[in-house]
Amino acid sequence: MYCVQNITSDILYVGASDRRLALFENVYPIPRGVSYNAYLVLDEKTVLMDAVEETVAVRFQENLEYGLNGRSLDYVVVNHMEPDHSASLAGVLRRWPEAKVVGNAKTLSMLTQFTGEDFSSRSVVVKEGDTLETGRHVFTFVTAPMVHWPEVMVTYDTTDKILFSADAFGTFGALSGNLYADEVDFARDWLDDARRYYTNIVGKYGVQVQALLKKAAGMDIAILCPLHGPIWRKDIAWFVEKYQRWSTYTPEDRAVAIFTGSVYGNTDNAADILAARLAAKGVRGIVQYDVSHMDVSDLVAEAFRCSHLVFASATYNNGIFTPMENLLLDLKAHNLQSRTAAVIENGSWGPQAGKLIRGILSEMKNMTVLESGITVKSAVQAPQREALEALADEITADLMK
Ligand code: FEO
Repeated sequence: MYCVQNITSDILYVGASDRRLALFENVYPIPRGVSYNAYLVLDEKTVLMDAVEETVAVRFQENLEYGLNGRSLDYVVVNHMEPDHSASLAGVLRRWPEAKVVGNAKTLSMLTQFTGEDFSSRSVVVKEGDTLETGRHVFTFVTAPMVHWPEVMVTYDTTDKILFSADAFGTFGALSGNLYADEVDFARDWLDDARRYYTNIVGKYGVQVQALLKKAAGMDIAILCPLHGPIWRKDIAWFVEKYQRWSTYTPEDRAVAIFTGSVYGNTDNAADILAARLAAKGVRGIVQYDVSHMDVSDLVAEAFRCSHLVFASATYNNGIFTPMENLLLDLKAHNLQSRTAAVIENGSWGPQAGKLIRGILSEMKNMTVLESGITVKSAVQAPQREALEALADEITADLMK
């Protein structure tokens, strides 16, 4: 038997999950693995929607053979050319030489860039709004540039109201038999990974995600089929609302996240005191992270979730403590904006971190940086305890606004 499952009577899931890969894109830890979703339409013509990463290519090809059950493959729609979906594409096209490749001009140019082969004689070049009729189904192609590469498009099945959404609405995490978001506890078990996936993969491209959401708002969507993670057929609006927030850089929670870069624990002590004083003033849901011991992708996701961010950093080599600098530059690179921030610095002889952190924050959009920063010289003493109390007052008042 195979891992193939029916999505509808004539659309099959033929993707596969990888639980062995440690780092997605060789950057992001994926302890829960990742799925590479692919879909097979068995209409009068057969259509494959995207392929998979090389690591699961054999399973995928077995699924595809099983799904086709001896039929030929007529079309391969390529919504996204990133190798996590296209590394196995050339193999598919060699196995089924009669299959036509459907993509836009950028897709087909990238296909040649990656494979060194010219598929122009078997290509169907589509643009925004073009359709493909395969018998019962009519597919409409909708461009979604920079969600997450420039060639990305999504494909809407106007017959069964299914949106094949490419990377959009995807998440880290391998699928374990249950294909649908309503068959798992998504909010409890998947949302953190979905947020980490979104913010780190496409977080930078909020404007472009907004453009796609506006297009999607005009579609009647019964089933949402992303290229990673569970498929949506219930509560789609709930997940779209998350995307609405993330892509407009609107915090999900009015909450304080304290990020600490501490060499010997004295900066961490200042952060601890601040957290305790916030708690004493009634603030709930405070989170505190040591930036040396968390993957930066988790920290980026938390910065997207929370409204108020505190950066507490030692001075190091006359600059910002290295993992804290890495976090701040990553937040800037991912276009995080519209947050309230506070800064705590430490430096035994020449504190510099505060000024430099403020410099990075000033280069990000719509950041409100509280004036009352705190300088610790080696360890927290009476003046800093007072200042931390005042900072806790200021943050609490701002949170309650
Ligand atoms: Fe899942 Fe941008 O690739």
